[in-house]
Amino acid sequence: MQAPIQELIPAELQSRFAKARNVLVLTGAGVSAESGVPTFRGGGGAAVWKGMPFDVISSAGMVQQNLQAVWEWFDYRRNLLSELVPNAGHLTIASWQERFPEFTLVTQNVDGLHQKAGSKNVIELHGNIWRARCIACESRFDLRISHPRPDNCISCGERLRPDVVLFGEMLPAGAFELAAERAVRCDLCFVIGTSALVYPAASIPEIAKSAGAYLCEVNPERTPLSNICDEVLSGSAGAILPLIGAATN
Ligand code: OAD
Repeated sequence: MQAPIQELIPAELQSRFAKARNVLVLTGAGVSAESGVPTFRGGGGAAVWKGMPFDVISSAGMVQQNLQAVWEWFDYRRNLLSELVPNAGHLTIASWQERFPEFTLVTQNVDGLHQKAGSKNVIELHGNIWRARCIACESRFDLRISHPRPDNCISCGERLRPDVVLFGEMLPAGAFELAAERAVRCDLCFVIGTSALVYPAASIPEIAKSAGAYLCEVNPERTPLSNICDEVLSGSAGAILPLIGAATN
Protein backbone atom coordinates (compact mmCIF):
# COMPACT_ATOMS: atom_id res chain seq x y z
CA MET A 1 0.00 0.00 0.00
CA GLN A 2 1.30 3.48 -0.87
CA ALA A 3 2.19 5.83 2.01
CA PRO A 4 -0.16 8.80 2.46
CA ILE A 5 1.09 11.99 0.78
CA GLN A 6 1.55 13.60 4.19
CA GLU A 7 4.23 11.02 5.00
CA LEU A 8 6.11 11.45 1.71
CA ILE A 9 6.55 15.19 2.15
CA PRO A 10 8.23 16.09 5.45
CA ALA A 11 5.99 17.99 7.88
CA GLU A 12 8.43 20.90 8.17
CA LEU A 13 8.33 21.46 4.41
CA GLN A 14 4.53 21.16 4.33
CA SER A 15 4.28 23.79 7.00
CA ARG A 16 6.78 26.14 5.28
CA PHE A 17 4.94 25.70 1.99
CA ALA A 18 1.56 26.44 3.59
CA LYS A 19 2.84 29.64 5.24
CA ALA A 20 5.22 30.91 2.56
CA ARG A 21 4.58 34.40 1.18
CA ASN A 22 7.50 34.73 -1.20
CA VAL A 23 8.71 31.67 -3.09
CA LEU A 24 11.56 31.37 -5.57
CA VAL A 25 12.18 28.33 -7.76
CA LEU A 26 15.41 27.70 -9.68
CA THR A 27 15.18 24.97 -12.31
CA GLY A 28 17.64 23.15 -14.52
CA ALA A 29 17.58 20.55 -17.26
CA GLY A 30 16.28 17.83 -14.91
CA VAL A 31 12.83 19.42 -14.75
CA SER A 32 12.48 18.82 -18.51
CA ALA A 33 13.98 15.31 -18.48
CA GLU A 34 10.56 13.68 -18.10
CA SER A 35 9.36 15.60 -21.15
CA GLY A 36 12.12 13.94 -23.17
CA VAL A 37 14.71 16.73 -23.17
CA PRO A 38 18.17 15.25 -22.57
CA THR A 39 20.08 16.70 -19.62
CA PHE A 40 23.59 18.07 -20.14
CA ARG A 41 25.37 15.92 -17.58
CA GLY A 42 24.84 12.35 -16.46
CA GLY A 43 22.68 9.75 -18.18
CA GLY A 44 25.42 8.19 -20.29
CA GLY A 45 27.55 10.95 -21.75
CA ALA A 46 27.32 14.49 -23.00
CA ALA A 47 25.53 15.50 -26.18
CA VAL A 48 27.57 15.47 -29.38
CA TRP A 49 26.64 17.10 -32.70
CA LYS A 50 28.48 15.98 -35.84
CA GLY A 51 31.42 14.85 -33.74
CA MET A 52 31.59 18.08 -31.72
CA PRO A 53 30.84 18.10 -27.96
CA PHE A 54 27.96 20.44 -27.03
CA ASP A 55 30.31 22.90 -25.34
CA VAL A 56 32.19 23.33 -28.64
CA ILE A 57 29.23 23.64 -30.99
CA SER A 58 27.42 25.85 -28.44
CA SER A 59 30.29 28.26 -27.97
CA ALA A 60 30.94 31.93 -28.58
CA GLY A 61 33.94 30.93 -30.71
CA MET A 62 31.76 28.82 -33.01
CA VAL A 63 29.44 31.81 -33.65
CA GLN A 64 32.50 33.64 -34.98
CA GLN A 65 33.90 30.68 -36.92
CA ASN A 66 30.83 28.97 -38.28
CA LEU A 67 27.45 30.53 -37.48
CA GLN A 68 25.80 28.23 -40.03
CA ALA A 69 26.89 25.15 -38.02
CA VAL A 70 25.60 26.74 -34.81
CA TRP A 71 22.21 27.32 -36.47
CA GLU A 72 22.11 23.73 -37.77
CA TRP A 73 22.58 22.48 -34.21
CA PHE A 74 19.95 24.82 -32.80
CA ASP A 75 17.50 24.12 -35.66
CA TYR A 76 17.92 20.42 -34.92
CA ARG A 77 17.27 20.96 -31.21
CA ARG A 78 14.23 23.20 -31.85
CA ASN A 79 12.84 20.61 -34.18
CA LEU A 80 13.10 17.93 -31.47
CA LEU A 81 11.60 20.26 -28.86
CA SER A 82 8.62 21.23 -30.99
CA GLU A 83 7.08 17.78 -30.38
CA LEU A 84 7.57 17.85 -26.60
CA VAL A 85 5.07 18.90 -23.97
CA PRO A 86 5.41 20.07 -20.36
CA ASN A 87 5.32 17.40 -17.67
CA ALA A 88 3.77 17.34 -14.21
CA GLY A 89 6.79 19.18 -12.80
CA HIS A 90 6.41 22.17 -15.15
CA LEU A 91 2.63 22.22 -14.60
CA THR A 92 2.96 22.16 -10.82
CA ILE A 93 5.48 25.01 -10.85
CA ALA A 94 3.13 27.00 -13.11
CA SER A 95 0.29 26.47 -10.62
CA TRP A 96 2.43 27.85 -7.78
CA GLN A 97 2.52 31.34 -9.32
CA GLU A 98 -1.13 31.83 -8.30
CA ARG A 99 -0.64 30.31 -4.89
CA PHE A 100 1.77 32.72 -3.22
CA PRO A 101 1.62 36.52 -2.86
CA GLU A 102 5.05 36.68 -4.52
CA PHE A 103 6.52 34.04 -6.77
CA THR A 104 9.61 33.98 -8.98
CA LEU A 105 10.66 31.29 -11.42
CA VAL A 106 14.28 31.39 -12.51
CA THR A 107 15.37 28.84 -15.08
CA GLN A 108 18.58 27.79 -16.75
CA ASN A 109 16.55 25.98 -19.39
CA VAL A 110 16.23 27.35 -22.89
CA ASP A 111 13.48 24.95 -24.04
CA GLY A 112 10.47 27.19 -23.32
CA LEU A 113 8.56 24.37 -21.58
CA HIS A 114 7.88 26.42 -18.45
CA GLN A 115 6.12 29.03 -20.58
CA LYS A 116 4.28 26.29 -22.48
CA ALA A 117 3.03 25.05 -19.08
CA GLY A 118 1.69 28.54 -18.30
CA SER A 119 4.51 30.09 -16.26
CA LYS A 120 4.73 33.85 -16.72
CA ASN A 121 7.56 36.35 -16.19
CA VAL A 122 10.14 33.58 -16.17
CA ILE A 123 13.66 34.84 -15.54
CA GLU A 124 15.68 33.06 -18.23
CA LEU A 125 19.31 33.03 -17.16
CA HIS A 126 20.53 31.26 -20.31
CA GLY A 127 18.17 32.66 -22.94
CA ASN A 128 15.58 30.85 -25.02
CA ILE A 129 16.02 28.57 -28.01
CA TRP A 130 12.79 29.92 -29.52
CA ARG A 131 14.31 33.38 -30.03
CA ALA A 132 16.92 34.74 -32.45
CA ARG A 133 18.97 37.85 -31.74
CA CYS A 134 20.71 40.22 -34.11
CA ILE A 135 24.49 40.13 -33.63
CA ALA A 136 24.64 43.90 -34.25
CA CYS A 137 21.54 45.71 -32.94
CA GLU A 138 20.32 42.95 -30.58
CA SER A 139 16.74 43.01 -31.93
CA ARG A 140 15.00 39.79 -30.98
CA PHE A 141 12.74 37.59 -33.10
CA ASP A 142 10.26 34.95 -31.99
CA LEU A 143 11.06 31.80 -33.95
CA ARG A 144 7.70 30.26 -33.10
CA ILE A 145 6.04 32.71 -35.44
CA SER A 146 8.84 33.32 -37.98
CA HIS A 147 8.73 30.62 -40.67
CA PRO A 148 11.08 29.93 -42.28
CA ARG A 149 13.70 31.01 -39.74
CA PRO A 150 15.10 34.36 -40.92
CA ASP A 151 18.88 34.57 -41.42
CA ASN A 152 19.06 38.34 -41.17
CA CYS A 153 17.70 41.06 -38.94
CA ILE A 154 14.70 42.88 -40.38
CA SER A 155 15.76 46.08 -38.56
CA CYS A 156 19.40 46.37 -39.67
CA GLY A 157 20.07 43.46 -42.03
CA GLU A 158 22.89 41.95 -39.95
CA ARG A 159 23.10 38.24 -39.19
CA LEU A 160 20.93 36.61 -36.53
CA ARG A 161 22.13 34.13 -33.94
CA PRO A 162 20.32 32.00 -31.34
CA ASP A 163 19.30 34.12 -28.30
CA VAL A 164 20.95 31.64 -26.00
CA VAL A 165 23.93 32.01 -23.69
CA LEU A 166 26.76 30.02 -25.24
CA PHE A 167 29.92 28.79 -23.59
CA GLY A 168 32.29 31.68 -23.08
CA GLU A 169 29.49 34.26 -22.94
CA MET A 170 28.00 36.49 -20.26
CA LEU A 171 24.43 36.11 -19.03
CA PRO A 172 21.81 38.49 -20.49
CA ALA A 173 22.13 41.93 -18.92
CA GLY A 174 20.14 42.22 -15.72
CA ALA A 175 18.83 38.62 -15.56
CA PHE A 176 21.13 37.41 -12.80
CA GLU A 177 20.82 40.68 -10.87
CA LEU A 178 17.01 40.42 -10.90
CA ALA A 179 17.12 36.77 -9.84
CA ALA A 180 19.57 37.59 -7.02
CA GLU A 181 17.39 40.46 -5.82
CA ARG A 182 14.36 38.13 -5.68
CA ALA A 183 16.45 35.42 -3.96
CA VAL A 184 17.34 37.80 -1.13
CA ARG A 185 13.64 38.44 -0.47
CA CYS A 186 12.17 34.92 -0.71
CA ASP A 187 11.27 32.89 2.36
CA LEU A 188 11.13 29.51 0.62
CA CYS A 189 13.45 28.49 -2.22
CA PHE A 190 13.32 25.34 -4.34
CA VAL A 191 16.23 24.17 -6.44
CA ILE A 192 14.94 21.60 -8.89
CA GLY A 193 16.66 19.41 -11.47
CA THR A 194 20.00 21.14 -11.67
CA SER A 195 23.47 19.71 -11.09
CA ALA A 196 24.30 23.12 -9.54
CA LEU A 197 27.69 23.11 -11.23
CA VAL A 198 27.23 26.14 -13.45
CA TYR A 199 27.71 29.60 -11.98
CA PRO A 200 26.39 32.18 -11.45
CA ALA A 201 23.05 30.27 -11.69
CA ALA A 202 24.03 27.95 -8.84
CA SER A 203 24.64 30.91 -6.55
CA ILE A 204 20.93 31.86 -6.55
CA PRO A 205 19.97 29.21 -3.94
CA GLU A 206 23.09 30.09 -1.96
CA ILE A 207 21.99 33.74 -1.88
CA ALA A 208 18.48 32.74 -0.78
CA LYS A 209 19.82 30.52 1.98
CA SER A 210 22.28 33.15 3.22
CA ALA A 211 19.43 35.65 3.41
CA GLY A 212 17.43 33.29 5.62
CA ALA A 213 15.23 31.30 3.21
CA TYR A 214 14.32 27.66 3.77
CA LEU A 215 16.00 25.74 0.95
CA CYS A 216 14.61 22.55 -0.59
CA GLU A 217 16.24 20.53 -3.36
CA VAL A 218 14.37 18.13 -5.66
CA ASN A 219 16.71 15.86 -7.60
CA PRO A 220 17.28 12.10 -7.90
CA GLU A 221 20.98 12.74 -7.26
CA ARG A 222 22.87 14.76 -4.69
CA THR A 223 24.54 17.96 -5.83
CA PRO A 224 27.11 20.39 -4.38
CA LEU A 225 24.15 22.33 -2.94
CA SER A 226 22.62 19.35 -1.11
CA ASN A 227 24.66 19.99 2.02
CA ILE A 228 23.32 23.50 2.53
CA CYS A 229 19.70 22.49 1.86
CA ASP A 230 17.21 22.25 4.71
CA GLU A 231 15.42 19.48 2.85
CA VAL A 232 16.54 17.20 0.01
CA LEU A 233 13.73 15.33 -1.75
CA SER A 234 15.35 12.54 -3.69
CA GLY A 235 13.39 11.70 -6.82
CA SER A 236 12.06 13.09 -10.07
CA ALA A 237 10.46 16.51 -10.31
CA GLY A 238 7.40 15.13 -12.11
CA ALA A 239 6.68 12.69 -9.29
CA ILE A 240 7.57 14.86 -6.29
CA LEU A 241 6.36 18.38 -7.10
CA PRO A 242 2.65 17.50 -7.43
CA LEU A 243 2.86 15.88 -3.99
CA ILE A 244 4.17 19.07 -2.38
CA GLY A 245 1.16 21.01 -3.58
CA ALA A 246 -1.29 18.22 -2.79
CA ALA A 247 0.09 17.65 0.70
CA THR A 248 -0.62 21.23 1.70
CA ASN A 249 -3.97 21.79 0.00
P1 OAD B 1 22.65 19.21 -15.85
O1 OAD B 1 22.51 18.30 -17.00
O2 OAD B 1 24.01 19.64 -15.43
O3 OAD B 1 21.97 18.56 -14.56
C1 OAD B 1 20.71 17.98 -14.63
C2 OAD B 1 20.29 17.60 -13.23
O4 OAD B 1 18.96 17.13 -13.28
C3 OAD B 1 21.13 16.48 -12.59
O5 OAD B 1 21.51 16.89 -11.28
C4 OAD B 1 20.18 15.30 -12.54
O6 OAD B 1 20.40 14.48 -11.39
C5 OAD B 1 18.84 16.00 -12.44
N1 OAD B 1 17.69 15.24 -12.94
C6 OAD B 1 17.66 14.31 -13.91
N2 OAD B 1 16.40 13.87 -14.10
C7 OAD B 1 15.62 14.56 -13.23
C8 OAD B 1 14.23 14.56 -12.94
N3 OAD B 1 13.38 13.78 -13.60
N4 OAD B 1 13.78 15.39 -11.98
C9 OAD B 1 14.64 16.20 -11.30
N5 OAD B 1 15.95 16.24 -11.53
C10 OAD B 1 16.45 15.43 -12.48
O7 OAD B 1 21.71 20.47 -16.16
P2 OAD B 1 21.76 21.93 -15.55
O8 OAD B 1 22.10 21.91 -14.12
O9 OAD B 1 20.50 22.60 -15.97
O10 OAD B 1 24.05 26.09 -19.78
O11 OAD B 1 22.96 22.57 -16.36
C11 OAD B 1 23.26 23.90 -16.16
C12 OAD B 1 23.74 24.52 -17.43
O12 OAD B 1 24.81 23.73 -17.95
C13 OAD B 1 22.73 24.54 -18.56
O13 OAD B 1 21.79 25.59 -18.47
C14 OAD B 1 23.61 24.71 -19.75
C15 OAD B 1 24.77 23.79 -19.40
O14 OAD B 1 25.99 24.27 -19.78
C16 OAD B 1 24.05 26.72 -20.95
O15 OAD B 1 23.69 26.20 -21.98
C17 OAD B 1 24.55 28.12 -20.86
